[in-house]
Amino acid sequence: MKSRTNGEGLRDKVAGANPAPVTIAPMTQPATGATLLEARDLSKHFGGLRAVASISFRVRQGEIVGVIGPNGAGKTTLFALLSGFLPATSGEVLFEDAPILGLRPDTLCHLGMARTFQVVRPFPEMTVFENVKAAAVFGKQGRRSNQEILSDVEEVLRATGLAPLAGQHPPSLSLPQRKRLEVARALATRPKLLLLDEVLAGLNPKEIQEALPFIRSLNEKHRVTILMIEHNLRAIMGVCQRILVLNFGQLIFDGAPSDAVEDARVIEAYLGGQQHA
Ligand SMILES: Nc1ncnc2c1ncn2[C@@H]1O[C@H](COP(=O)(O)OP(=O)(O)OP(=O)(O)O)[C@@H](O)[C@H]1O
Ligand SMILES: [Mg+2]
Repeated sequence: MKSRTNGEGLRDKVAGANPAPVTIAPMTQPATGATLLEARDLSKHFGGLRAVASISFRVRQGEIVGVIGPNGAGKTTLFALLSGFLPATSGEVLFEDAPILGLRPDTLCHLGMARTFQVVRPFPEMTVFENVKAAAVFGKQGRRSNQEILSDVEEVLRATGLAPLAGQHPPSLSLPQRKRLEVARALATRPKLLLLDEVLAGLNPKEIQEALPFIRSLNEKHRVTILMIEHNLRAIMGVCQRILVLNFGQLIFDGAPSDAVEDARVIEAYLGGQQHA
């Protein structure tokens, strides 16, 4: 859902009248791991605009946590703060209990945090294989043999279903394939925490249906903790154990997806008031 609309309720929007409903079963197992990421009173102001306003939350090892909110709510800005692409105005971020604000994206990548971008940006002149290999080389600190890197790349290509497309160039890929390549490049850095920014955007219901088990398999098979921004509420309800809801830079909800659709502030953010952006 891209913006606030009036009319049907939030629960109806999630249930939807979509011709190809997302049928994946909701996550039921709460993660019990230690805290992997913690934001404390995190803020980012652009001039007078409070794009991220004093947000605090935790992500535990093994969780898949969704980040939702109307256009302009601050979701991508939050990711940029967490992953070192933007300096924060104030606050603190801890990764494995160590403060990380001020560290550069490549340092954070070496520590085990990788992100995808809302606008996919592979190197167009390099093949799928070379794109993933470049990420694998970049992501790892310390020297590794070419053989180790190649076997990593092959594993990532298999896990993301891109192995048959290894020799192609990104411009010849479909959007779902390019999105997978974006995830593959992040995955090749061997992250503990993966930040996914709208990897389902632009996919049709069938493609989303195929992508959700893939995201879950990254979490279950590859033991990657996932924080994912997503506009498709039904998809996020299906794959996330917990969601954070942002509105005008503020965190207005942190809890189970099933509770979010009953929450007065969440309903107001999505269905009431004026349109954002
Ligand atoms: N570099 C920037 N300079 C000034 N304002 C910015 C900058 N980046 C984002 N903003 C503003 O901060 C607010 C939050 O933007 P952000 O991109 O984080 O929202 P979002 O929740 O990711 O939205 P969308 O759902 O459209 O992707 C918006 O009002 C946006 O215009
Ligand atoms: Mg965004």
